[in-house]
Amino acid sequence: MEKKSFYVTTPIYYPSAQLHIGHTLTTTMADALARYKKMMGYDVYFLTGSDEHGQKIEKVAAEKGMKPIEYTDGVVKTFKNLWSKMHIDYDDFIRTTEKRHYDTVQALFQKIYDKGDIYKGEYEGYYCTSCETFFTQFQLAEGHCPDCGKAVDIVKEESYFFKMSKYGDQLLEYIETHPHFIQPESRRNEMMNFIKTGLEDLSVSRTTFDWGIPITMDRGHIIYVWFDALTNYITALDWLDDGPLYQQFWKNNDEIVHLVGKDIIRFHTIIWPIILMAADIKLPTTVFGHGWLLSGGGKMSKSVGNVVDPLLLIEKYGADSLRYFLLREMPGGSDYYYSEDALVNRINIDLANDYGNLLSRTISMIDKYFAGEIPVVKDGFDTDLVALSQEVVSSYQQHMDKFELSLGLQSIFKLVGRGNKMIEESAPWTLYKEGNMDRLAVVLYQLVEIIRMSTIMLSPVLVETGAKVMAQLGIDSEYFTNEKLSFGAIDKSFKVNKGAPLFPRIEIKDVEVAMEKPEKEDKKAKNSEKNKEKSSKDNIDNKEVGDNLISIDDFAKCQFKVGRVLEAEKVEGADKLLKLSVKVGADEVRTVVAGIALYYKAEELIDKKVIVVYNLKPAKLRGIESHGMLLAAKGENDLRLLTVDGDLEEGAVVS
Ligand code: MSP
Repeated sequence: MEKKSFYVTTPIYYPSAQLHIGHTLTTTMADALARYKKMMGYDVYFLTGSDEHGQKIEKVAAEKGMKPIEYTDGVVKTFKNLWSKMHIDYDDFIRTTEKRHYDTVQALFQKIYDKGDIYKGEYEGYYCTSCETFFTQFQLAEGHCPDCGKAVDIVKEESYFFKMSKYGDQLLEYIETHPHFIQPESRRNEMMNFIKTGLEDLSVSRTTFDWGIPITMDRGHIIYVWFDALTNYITALDWLDDGPLYQQFWKNNDEIVHLVGKDIIRFHTIIWPIILMAADIKLPTTVFGHGWLLSGGGKMSKSVGNVVDPLLLIEKYGADSLRYFLLREMPGGSDYYYSEDALVNRINIDLANDYGNLLSRTISMIDKYFAGEIPVVKDGFDTDLVALSQEVVSSYQQHMDKFELSLGLQSIFKLVGRGNKMIEESAPWTLYKEGNMDRLAVVLYQLVEIIRMSTIMLSPVLVETGAKVMAQLGIDSEYFTNEKLSFGAIDKSFKVNKGAPLFPRIEIKDVEVAMEKPEKEDKKAKNSEKNKEKSSKDNIDNKEVGDNLISIDDFAKCQFKVGRVLEAEKVEGADKLLKLSVKVGADEVRTVVAGIALYYKAEELIDKKVIVVYNLKPAKLRGIESHGMLLAAKGENDLRLLTVDGDLEEGAVVS
């Protein structure tokens, strides 16, 4: 059967500043999708690059006393260095300063001109150099750029115009009939409303600066930097010569995906498709607009001075951890407030405690109970586990296919969680004591299968870890492919080799050091002060935190204790409530009514260590007096109880 193709691109980044973790997010997302599709048997082409022309770059280079190309040569090296450290495995890195790109942009421009969709006129309006965008007076926000808030220049010059207005209805129809073209859904509605207000012809050339691609027939005009930049997606495939890459990955391909941040979705879903329509080229399948990473001051950006350097984080936590954090935490299309604490928590909880520990506990038990040989078992499996593993694989694939990487990763951790729970429930040490070696073999085989399947599914994201897991389990790499992504594939024994922990737990004291770093430079510190004022306006999340800050004294009013659930039962007539007996001290047992019945079965809770709000006023629920409350975290689709990381006695104080 002929292989399917998948073409994925990132935006090409401006070398006007160093890349930060916002840019790293898009590129990592593209890399993980490319690896996932390869794993699923696709032929994949993954493109990234640099957007080197325009007034902004010309200005930055001049400030440094350099020629633009000298300046961009230097910055592009740093881009490539970062991508190599992040293990970004692109197929091509395009620079808009390359000859192949000049030739393509000029030919595309000429083609549209010859068709009559580009004409000469005079532009009069405003230009934001930072965003490289034209605005009318009506579009400005209090005289400033509506996108970045900076001052705009008044421009009056001869210009070529692109007849965007002619294509508004055709584009609208395309978007209506191709529901997957703009994702997520909210961005689609936004763009449709924008088009419905009417499209104006776009100025596509400038005469007042030089750093760009000249129009072949009128060399005093430099082609508008966005026309130039967007064309990169077909330059790299050799559209100009109708080359084999273009044939395979564009012309005859049903999966052409542009990943972009939400600020540039308009360029990709309005200007770019209209350029393609005018040039009789088919449109991409999907433009996916992710949200922004925010930090103090709103959108993380060099000009605000609130950026986080990915190289520092890679050095400190490793590329796999950073890749996992970015993709797991970033919620599809919405913004996300970055903090290093969140990064450390995510690594500690998912990678160190859940995944890493599962591997090391399993290997230790195989060493101890089976002299290091993985027991091979063919039946006697827990049917619910086998069913769960199938569900997880299918939900993982469904999410990954829809570019919902965070949800895909969450699915995998349902399986990992089941593994850890299985250890607690089946108590292998007791099975061993009882001499129940048959059941013990089943349990350990099942654990190995959980780890193996999770490792396969994690491999597009954790690109260095897979090999380490294989080495520790001693299992051949052929068992770590998509073809073997089903429960029970291990059919012969392997010898385990216990190694170093995959993800050592990170101590909080290390975090503080890393967080101080960006603040050390004076300029950044000053900016961050300035941004504190701005932040409440720019960033809703931040505002919410700001308005709700409590003092340490307020927090100290709450008393929390470790409890152990002794008994649990459903409260009659209440779908959501469970009545629990919780031991919260050497001889203190309390009744707690908890609204968790949709997420936990009563029997799952027995012996679970929980965190109880100890000094909460008693309250009556369905006639039962509840003395305390359990702490839990609620995600998009699930609720999990907070527990303790180790074997603390009941009544231990949480602070
Ligand atoms: N050069 C143009 C893109 C041309 S594509 C044909 C450009 N470059 S950029 O370097 O300014 O931004 C590139 C991408 O980085 C955009 O998708 C933008 O959304 C993304 N990000 C910049 N800051 C970001 C965050 N703070 N968070 C997430 N993504 C962010 O625009």
